[in-house]
Amino acid sequence: MTKDPKLEKLFQLKKEAKLGGGQHRIEAQHKKGKLTASERIELLLDRDSFVEMDMFVKHRCTDFGLEKETYLGDGVITGYGRIDGRLVFIFSQDFTVFGGSLSESYAKKICKIMDLAMKVGAPVIGINDSGGARIQEGVDSLGGYAEIFLRNTLASGVIPQISIVAGPCAGGAVYSPAITDFIFMVKNTSYMFVTGPNVVKTVTHENVSFEELGGAITHSSKSGVSHFACENEIAAFEAVRKLLSYVPLNNVDDPPFVETNDPVDRSDERLNTIVPDNPNKPYDMRDIIRLVVDDGEFLEVQPDWAQNIIIGFARLGGYSVGIVGNQPMVLAGVLDIDSSSKAARFVRFCDAFNIPIITFVDVPGFLPGTAQEFGGIIKHGAKLLYAFCEATVPKITVITRKAYGGAYDVMSSKHIRGDVNLAWPSAELAVMGPKGAVEIIFKKEISAADDPEKALEEKLSEFITEFANPYKAAERGYIDDVIEPKFTRQNLIQALQMLETKTDTNPRKKHGNIPL
Ligand code: HXC
Repeated sequence: MTKDPKLEKLFQLKKEAKLGGGQHRIEAQHKKGKLTASERIELLLDRDSFVEMDMFVKHRCTDFGLEKETYLGDGVITGYGRIDGRLVFIFSQDFTVFGGSLSESYAKKICKIMDLAMKVGAPVIGINDSGGARIQEGVDSLGGYAEIFLRNTLASGVIPQISIVAGPCAGGAVYSPAITDFIFMVKNTSYMFVTGPNVVKTVTHENVSFEELGGAITHSSKSGVSHFACENEIAAFEAVRKLLSYVPLNNVDDPPFVETNDPVDRSDERLNTIVPDNPNKPYDMRDIIRLVVDDGEFLEVQPDWAQNIIIGFARLGGYSVGIVGNQPMVLAGVLDIDSSSKAARFVRFCDAFNIPIITFVDVPGFLPGTAQEFGGIIKHGAKLLYAFCEATVPKITVITRKAYGGAYDVMSSKHIRGDVNLAWPSAELAVMGPKGAVEIIFKKEISAADDPEKALEEKLSEFITEFANPYKAAERGYIDDVIEPKFTRQNLIQALQMLETKTDTNPRKKHGNIPL
């Protein structure tokens, strides 16, 4: 059989493109414990669903003799494919070509798929593994980054954007993942920083390793930059697939509904005794979440950062929901700078993408102290308040115990458009804890008493009976119902079903000015 030379050329070029920077660099990549750009796409997407674009693109740089060194694809693989049968766009940076560094042509490839994703309304997933700006291309490379940043920003709130950091991501390059909705990092092989350990040493004289400065653990527990720290790349891809299962393809789509065998009217006796009688005794809010949601499945986001608040995705009666919960196990569930920022961004994501928000409340207030005040707890706390206020998705709140002070208002209260606000009989809605309140209100009586300690005890006991409960709020309609805890699942699903056709809007404006 005679061979068709034109087809032969096509096959040859495709084979060449598949090799990226060449076999020896692929081996070097594997030796570092990293997969190649194309292996990553294969493992992340549904089998055989990937359609590559711009495989023949080359850079156009003629400085520093670079015209003699070109590679098909130029260091990034782009295209589209499916996850659980649903369309996604993807780019995967190829470290084997100029260390995955970004050229003008490379940036154009990424922008092309981002533009397509916006037109068709599908998520973009970026796999980052790059030495940053291609140094030989100078300002053309910087311009390329800026074109991507602009698209990240314009796409924000329109299509979900997910970043996987699976190698270096440094300098200004970090700002593309930073604008995206979720960052998944891989332990030991990925890092993100604005300036690396060498610059840090020169400027601040600190000795710090790559991993310590910008590794997955650092960003998932100290800085809060990353949302998931994954054991390896495969685990990262599984986590991305899982996360996408809760999320719609775009901001006018509904989140996937997943039929469940978990009965919608399932009650759980354990909920009736989960909150300790002693208000100072902690319990794990995650236990409540797991007992309530479909099949006990809860995908916690940022589980290791600002642990005094819990955020994550679950389903209730098949509906995808975003969950926010104070965590009494950590700092008594108090709101502080980090927990406010963490929950605010999550609430805004859910609101942008039509995901109802369920809020579990047990909050003693805002954390006092100079560190918090000097650090700007006023503006950071305001973020969470703002995020809940502006959210128009269905908002359902369950107060399990404390809802004190400003934090009561913040945590999706009735007054800021909570649609259904429920309380357990153990709930206490008040300006502050009973002891503080009694000490202020009855200051004179207590100090004038023969036995001030006894007087305090008496007043405290009266106050607790009269005010430390949900009924004052329920009398005013701030709480729609006080429910038996074991029926929480059923109550939440009924509310979600009732709210299925909810519409609410905010006043027309260019955009608000959230305190940043
Ligand atoms: C061009 C680059 C490159 C770059 C790496 N390479 N980074 N080529 N531009 N930015 C090339 C190397 O020359 C090498 O080519 C190959 O990629 C692999 O690099 P190695 O150094 O051998 O790999 P490794 O030891 O794993 O080190 C990875 C690295 C290191 C830590 C990322 O390469 C590095 O420090 N690179 C420079 C990083 C940097 O300063 N970038 C600019 C940052 S400023 P061969 O031919 O040997 O395979 C920036 C601004 C962005 O990015 C601004 C956006 C607004």
